[in-house]
Amino acid sequence: MRRVFPRHRRFERAMNIDEIAAIARRRLPNFVYEYIEGGSDDEVSLANNRAIFERYRFTPRTLTDVSQRSLTCQVLGREIAMPLIIAPTGFNGMITRDGDMKLARMAAKWRIPFTLSNASTTALEEIATVAESWNWMQIYFYRDRDYVEKLMARCEAAGFDTLVITTDSAIYGNREWDARNYTRPLVLDWYNKLHTLTRPGWIKDVLYPNGVPTFKNLGDLLPPAKPRSRALPPPLAVI
Ligand SMILES: Cc1cc2nc3c(=O)[nH]c(=O)nc-3n(C[C@H](O)[C@H](O)[C@H](O)COP(=O)(O)O)c2cc1C
Repeated sequence: MRRVFPRHRRFERAMNIDEIAAIARRRLPNFVYEYIEGGSDDEVSLANNRAIFERYRFTPRTLTDVSQRSLTCQVLGREIAMPLIIAPTGFNGMITRDGDMKLARMAAKWRIPFTLSNASTTALEEIATVAESWNWMQIYFYRDRDYVEKLMARCEAAGFDTLVITTDSAIYGNREWDARNYTRPLVLDWYNKLHTLTRPGWIKDVLYPNGVPTFKNLGDLLPPAKPRSRALPPPLAVI
């Protein structure tokens, strides 16, 4: 059955993830929405991953006292409020202003860990200021080992006690939507430029007044000529 989603744009009123996605689609420019939602090639792995999660079932417990329930669990020797960790996603500032900070604050409020992406638009030191938070830091294993070491030293100094080392991006997936939305790296095609103008709320939230958010932890690795670069340049190759 095809669902009819409400026409409002308020995330607080969403009842499920599909509704959140529908609202996001109304609020975000096409290229940003596709960045979040799209997989690679025919998106077979994406569909397969979802299908696997959909096969999980809860076992109902009846005729037993369930008046006291708890989702708390132990992760790396610490108790968290529910078995959920926010995975690292790069470029969160492109989705909403201070996207990384918003996620870190929400994670702290709900007592779950937040993983800051290496490609974040907020400096890790700033994330470390969020009270009562348990922040993890994701790092790609770049060929530039000096950078990796410097980043790890920054994490330690800022009080991050958990590193998430990801090794999946030695070669980037073939994201077809990326090829459609840009005429060349970083340059949107006309459809996407015009579509962005239909999202004044996003322009005000994300672009005004400083323009496209920049990467705040990649600093030394980005070529100086392109400090505002949105794509990961070749020196960032991993492994
Ligand atoms: C928009 C987006 C950005 C991502 N950025 C990163 C990243 O910067 N670093 C990283 O290690 N993983 C990144 N990932 C991968 C996620 O952390 C996660 O492993 C992946 O999405 C699988 O989890 P899911 O099935 O809940 O989406 C990103 C995923 C998405 C969808």
